[in-house]
Amino acid sequence: MSKGPVSMRLDRLLANLGYGTRSEVQRMIRAGRVSLDGVRLKENDQRIVVSADLPARMWVANEPLDPISGLCLMLNKPVGVTCSHKEQGPLVYSLLPERWRRREPAISTVGRLDKETSGLLLLTDDGVLLHKIISPRNHVTKRYDVTLDRPLGDDVAKIFASGTLMLEGEKKPLLPAGIEVVSSTRAFVTLTEGRYHQVRRMFAAVGNHVTALHRDRMGGLTLPDDLAPGEFRILGETDLPLVLKAV
Ligand code: URA
Repeated sequence: MSKGPVSMRLDRLLANLGYGTRSEVQRMIRAGRVSLDGVRLKENDQRIVVSADLPARMWVANEPLDPISGLCLMLNKPVGVTCSHKEQGPLVYSLLPERWRRREPAISTVGRLDKETSGLLLLTDDGVLLHKIISPRNHVTKRYDVTLDRPLGDDVAKIFASGTLMLEGEKKPLLPAGIEVVSSTRAFVTLTEGRYHQVRRMFAAVGNHVTALHRDRMGGLTLPDDLAPGEFRILGETDLPLVLKAV
């Protein structure tokens, strides 16, 4: 959500949004399938000012133009899908419209959730925004709803808050983490860092085992109840400051 409007050749704009290769979109343009403000565009090299209101003004193949770059989405990640591009099996990207997987710049996840973890996952094509959210300097908190195999010990809150807990195989202790106990086997855990399998390893370090893990909040942004697993929503100008607001 950085720079001001830029202008771009029409065929490049559509190819970057995943509508096809340069020659495929050139055929669409010549066939009169693209219009702006109700006027058919016929020239591939026409320069278009890529402003935020473009999707409300441009039509491609009888549909409004897809969101332009600078996109940020929140997805309710279901259990069983993977955040990586490389691994086998269903990927979070398969939950997005097919065309969006061919966009340039590409849409990436903002950090990751394990395959077996569900909940709030942000995706963006804005590298500056991505780094702002994951940078430890911005202290974006992440809250997890944790279900455990065994009852919580009395000392867990103190250990998590201590700033001295070491995870197996690591050299640096964890930053203090918050815990809000819901029941003997359920708690909300709030972190400001994002180490590999962090929540699962924290509970393993105190002799417990996580049986279900769900992220419901990042900064001041809460996963809405009406966003079903597998569904996503485009974040607007008002939602993004919420993510970056430390809570
Ligand atoms: N901690 C974990 O163990 N897994 C996640 O996906 C996120 C935090």
